[in-house]
Amino acid sequence: MASRAWWVGVAVLAAACRQDQRAPVQMPAADSATVQVARAVADSLGEELMGLLAPAIERGGPALAIQVCADSAQVRTLRHWKNGIYIRRVSDRVRNVDDTPDALERRWLEQLAEAHQAGTLPEEFVEVIRAPDGTYELQYLRPILVDRRCLACHGDPATFIPEVRAVLAQRYPEDRATGYAVGDLRGAVSVRVPLPPRP
Ligand code: HEC
Repeated sequence: MASRAWWVGVAVLAAACRQDQRAPVQMPAADSATVQVARAVADSLGEELMGLLAPAIERGGPALAIQVCADSAQVRTLRHWKNGIYIRRVSDRVRNVDDTPDALERRWLEQLAEAHQAGTLPEEFVEVIRAPDGTYELQYLRPILVDRRCLACHGDPATFIPEVRAVLAQRYPEDRATGYAVGDLRGAVSVRVPLPPRP
């Protein structure tokens, strides 16, 4: 899509270049097949999780929805790990510690937060990274913003219904994912897709 805001990293991680001078990394084109794979996986996870949350809210309000999220968000996310593709939701203030970003994701989340503050948040972020085993991967990040529907469980805890408080206290004693307002950056969907070997 021509209108998409793009941040394609200008250089692969400096460390990767230093380690392998013979294999300069070509950045994938914005519409390359690999980017499209990453985008499609991010779409399908987003649709699945929202397809879980919305009907649960409709049927039983936040009291049911939080139970459903707590029980199945992780397992549903893991089901998208196919063909060497890695996908998860990450945040600098996690509810579930399994969503804690790794060092690279943390750095990019910081960059996204800065861009968000400056009013220049891209819709997606793409970079090529070198995996620990020497192969290359496409790293794709899609920012997640807070909207009105999120506040029942990620807004001001003083406004939470007792059932939401109870689940948070019981299942997420170290929850840091509250206090958000509409429009805040909540985190990102992070996808890594293996790239073909380089000569
Ligand atoms: C009914 C309660 C509820 C609502 C509404 C809700 N969430 Fe969550 N959210 C949760 C729970 C519970 C988890 C932890 C799930 C897990 O254990 O994997 C979570 C986890 C997340 C995570 C993963 C990072 C982390 O902190 O672990 C993101 C990102 C997220 N929510 C974004 C949103 C957004 C955006 C909205 C609004 C569109 C939203 N949530 C609405 C309950 C909710």
